[in-house]
Amino acid sequence: MDINCSKEELKLFKTISDAATELGLHCYLIGGFVRDKLLGRPTKDVDIVCTGDGIALAHAVADTFPHKPTVSFFKNFGTAHFRLGELDVEFVGARKESYVSTSRKPQVEEGTIEDDQRRRDFTINALAISLNQGDYGKLVDPFDGVADLEAGIIRTPLDPDTTFSDDPLRMMRATRFATQLGFTITPEVFDSIGRNAERIKIVSQERITDELNKIMAAPKPSVGLDLLYRSGVLKEFFPQMTDLAGVEIVEGKGHKDNFYHTLKVIDNTAEKSYNLWLRWAALLHDIGKPATKKFEEGHGWTFHGHEVVGERMTPKIFRQLKLPQNEHMKYVAKLVSLHLRPISLTKEDITDSAMRRLLFDAGDDLEDLMILCESDITSKNKVKVRRYLENFEIVKQRLKEVEESDKIRNWQPPISGDDIMAIFGLSPSREVGILKTTIREAILDGVIPNEREAAYNLLLEKAGELNLKPVRND
Ligand code: CTP
Repeated sequence: MDINCSKEELKLFKTISDAATELGLHCYLIGGFVRDKLLGRPTKDVDIVCTGDGIALAHAVADTFPHKPTVSFFKNFGTAHFRLGELDVEFVGARKESYVSTSRKPQVEEGTIEDDQRRRDFTINALAISLNQGDYGKLVDPFDGVADLEAGIIRTPLDPDTTFSDDPLRMMRATRFATQLGFTITPEVFDSIGRNAERIKIVSQERITDELNKIMAAPKPSVGLDLLYRSGVLKEFFPQMTDLAGVEIVEGKGHKDNFYHTLKVIDNTAEKSYNLWLRWAALLHDIGKPATKKFEEGHGWTFHGHEVVGERMTPKIFRQLKLPQNEHMKYVAKLVSLHLRPISLTKEDITDSAMRRLLFDAGDDLEDLMILCESDITSKNKVKVRRYLENFEIVKQRLKEVEESDKIRNWQPPISGDDIMAIFGLSPSREVGILKTTIREAILDGVIPNEREAAYNLLLEKAGELNLKPVRND
């Protein structure tokens, strides 16, 4: 089989072949490595399947290298792997039955190479290349995987109901490959995902989210998200997102379908940025809409405060999906809460202080917020979109000017909380907070200039209202 391999890879394959001959085993390159090489995609994960003991073969191969890479292995699963430079090399004995991820005792019954290929997820992942001396390099393709690779089709080697019942995570994988590779899931396989959707519940959330993040990182995440929605898998683990779907009509007035709007916003964002968390902010920007939806007589549909509700929902959703509870979550919550602000600045008569406030609130995330906000303009009315985008450019320009003159991003007020405590002999307390906020707000509103003297005078005035006297003179 003609595939493009590096010198190191070719040397490794020859070494594996020799070691297998010595041990009297048959072995093959298999799975994602073969698939990606045939597609010309970069790959560093080498999977080897052999008849017999994969762990023994891994040790035999590792021992031939002068630095003897450490082999980690799992006896229960019959798998072993070691690292070789950039390559991750994994060995497994061919199995008759695939291992069932939910059972603690995996069934590992030795089988032939074809048994093993049959129990893999998709025909494009069941392709093998022989490393045996007799037919070294020969493609072993009993399920027409190459034809499916060429046609761009996701199909299972067995009846899909069997394949998905062996490991329901494969429903996510089918969707992820369709999104990453731009392939089509056959109708038979897609129907089977629909029938088995509920079974995704037995898979750990970490593994589901891993696949979801791969979908989110693809060039057009909407492909996978739409497939997950239509197959019924999405609502099993992320009902808040499917709650966005649908259009309600009252008095002849409908609102937009917020699910498909959200998909468009994610794709728009993905065109402008690779940042996974910005894409998550796009996914969650309208998540508070179902909870805030109202039909107001004579006015139509409103979603007042959905950005606040969305901000509050973000940590809960991150917990539910086992996404990290760290600064990424805070960043997403912040962008969700601010996502309407830049667009609100496109109205006329917007003061510099509104600009300063946004600069202050968004800080370092302003550029990302602007990407999200621009991506949120998805109206089908071309004239409307053009007008919005033009106004948006004006806002960007004004933000730039205000920032240049006032340097508000990452700005600290001229009198800090520590200063206030020292001046009035206070320990941390509500009063310190009030005084700090008074100074900050006055500067942001343009009531006083961003200078220490003006801030100090205001501080004394406000402190007087609170019956506080300075214990030192500044
Ligand atoms: N496999 C499977 N069922 C799964 C996971 C994996 O049958 N649920 C098989 C497939 O043959 C797959 C191989 O194991 O090609 C290796 O799996 P993995 O490394 O997880 O995925 P890749 O297919 O290599 O793809 P990627 O690296 O993009 O995840």
